[in-house]
Amino acid sequence: MVNPPSGYADIHTYAKDLIAFLHEPLSVQITGGIHVNDAFIYNAWSKLPAAWTKWWDSLPSPQHAQKDLINSLRNEPSARLDDLPGRPESLQQWLQRIRTLSLEREQLVLPACIPEVRVPEVLAQKMVTKKLAEVKAGARYINHICKTQNITRVIDIGSGQGYLSLTLAAACGLKVLAIDGSASQIQGSKAAARQAGLKEDEDVTHLVRYVTGTDELAEEISAWAQGERCLLAGLHACGSLSEHMLRLSTLVPEISHAAVVGCCFNHIKPLSVSHPDGFPISTFMRENELKLSPSALVTGCQAPTNWPPQPPNSVFGRKAFYRAVLEKLLHDKQVLALGQQQQQRPVWGIRTGDLASFYAYTSRALSSLNLTLGKDVTEEEIAGYERRFEKRKGEIAVLQTLSVLLCRVVESVIAIDRVMFLEERGMEEVDVVPVFEYKESPRNLMVVGRKKCRENSILECWLER
Ligand SMILES: C[S@@+](CC[C@H](N)C(=O)[O-])C[C@H]1O[C@@H](n2cnc3c(N)ncnc32)[C@H](O)[C@@H]1O
Repeated sequence: MVNPPSGYADIHTYAKDLIAFLHEPLSVQITGGIHVNDAFIYNAWSKLPAAWTKWWDSLPSPQHAQKDLINSLRNEPSARLDDLPGRPESLQQWLQRIRTLSLEREQLVLPACIPEVRVPEVLAQKMVTKKLAEVKAGARYINHICKTQNITRVIDIGSGQGYLSLTLAAACGLKVLAIDGSASQIQGSKAAARQAGLKEDEDVTHLVRYVTGTDELAEEISAWAQGERCLLAGLHACGSLSEHMLRLSTLVPEISHAAVVGCCFNHIKPLSVSHPDGFPISTFMRENELKLSPSALVTGCQAPTNWPPQPPNSVFGRKAFYRAVLEKLLHDKQVLALGQQQQQRPVWGIRTGDLASFYAYTSRALSSLNLTLGKDVTEEEIAGYERRFEKRKGEIAVLQTLSVLLCRVVESVIAIDRVMFLEERGMEEVDVVPVFEYKESPRNLMVVGRKKCRENSILECWLER
C-alpha cells in the first residue's frame, strides 16, 4: 500500500487534502488560472496575498524571493536554516502545506543483495547519461520484481528505441514485447536488437501499435503471453499513455504486475464527453470532482530542483518578461483576432537573438503574427510599454517560481489517481516508488501494482506458488 506523506494516516484523507488544496483559488490562479504570460493583463500580482507581495517587494531582489521559494521545497530539517527570516506566517504555512502534500521524491535505495543490471555496451553507448541511469535503475527494479514473482515476460509499452526492452531481454533473460506507436521508433529498436544479438520473436517481439487501451490490443498481448505471467512496464510513458497502460494491465489476465513511470502530463486528456476515459481515471477522484486545467497539468511537468534563481535580466527571465509585456500591449491594442488572443496561444517564433532587446523581440513576434511594425504597433508604443513595466520585472520572476512550486503537488495528485485506479480494480501492494535520482530525472515516480491472486484463477494461483 502506498505510504502517504507523513502526517497522513490513510490515502483517502491525503487525496481529499490534495484535491482541496488544488481547488483553492490561489492554487487555481498559480497553476494557470492567470497564465504568467497574462500577468500584466489581469494584474496577477495584486491577486496574491498582500502580505506576501509586500514582503517580496521589500527583499533586495526578486532572486532572493525565488531562491527562498525553491529552498522551501527541501524537506530535510536543516533546509529550514536557509529559509529567509521575516517570511509572513501565512506564506510559511502555505509552503509547509506544499511540503506535506508532496510525495517523497528521494530515490529508493535498493539493498545491495538485489543484483545490478549491466546494460549491454552496444545499447549503453546509444544513450545519454540520464537515460542510461534511468534504464539501469528501472531494469534493476523490474528485473527484481520479475525474478521474485515468477514473471518471465515483460510488455514494454511506449518502448521507443528499445533501451529498456532490449536491456531486459539481453541482460535479464526476460522475453519482451516492445510496443510503440511510432514505426520509426520500432525500426530503431529492431536495429538495436540485432546489434545486441537478440532474435526477433524469440527474445524480443516488436509491434507498432498506437495504444488507447482497447480490448483488441489486450487480446493481442494475451496471445503473445502464451499463458506465462507478465509484467507491464512503461518508462516515461507520456500523457494519457500511462493511463491506457494501467487500464490494459487490468484487462489482460496474464499481466500480474504493472510498473509505469509517466511524463509529459501536458498530454493527458482531461475527462470529457468526448474522452470518457480521461483524467482523473479513478472513481475516487472523479467522485470528489478533481479538476485540473490543461495549464495545471503543464505545471506538473516542471523541474523545481533544476530551477536556478534567474536574474530578471537573464535570457530566461527576459523571455518571460518580454512575453508578458507584449501580451499586455497586444491586448490593450486589440490587434489580434479573438481566437488568437484567447483560445490558441500563437507560436511567436522567438529565437535567442531576439532577446537582445524588447524591440527585437517584438519585431519578431509581430512578423510571426502577421502584424506590421509601425502600423499595428508603433516604435513609440514598444518603448513606452517597456518603460512602463520595467519596474515590475520581478513580479514575473516570482509568479513563474510560484507555478514551479506547485509541480510536486500536481504530480502527486496524478500519481495518487493512478494508484487509486489500480486499487479500485483489485490490485494490491500498489505503491509509488521514486525509482530515479530526482535531480537528474524529475519524472521519477513509478506506479507499481500487483494483481490479487483470485481464488478462481488456476493460472495465477499456480504461478503464485
Ligand atoms: C518519452 S518516450 C519514452 C521511450 C522509452 N520508453 C524510453 O524511455 O526511452 C515515449 C514513447 O512513447 C511512444 N508513445 C506515446 N504515446 C503512445 C501511444 N499512445 N501508443 C504507443 N506509443 C506511444 C512514443 O512514440 C515514444 O517512443
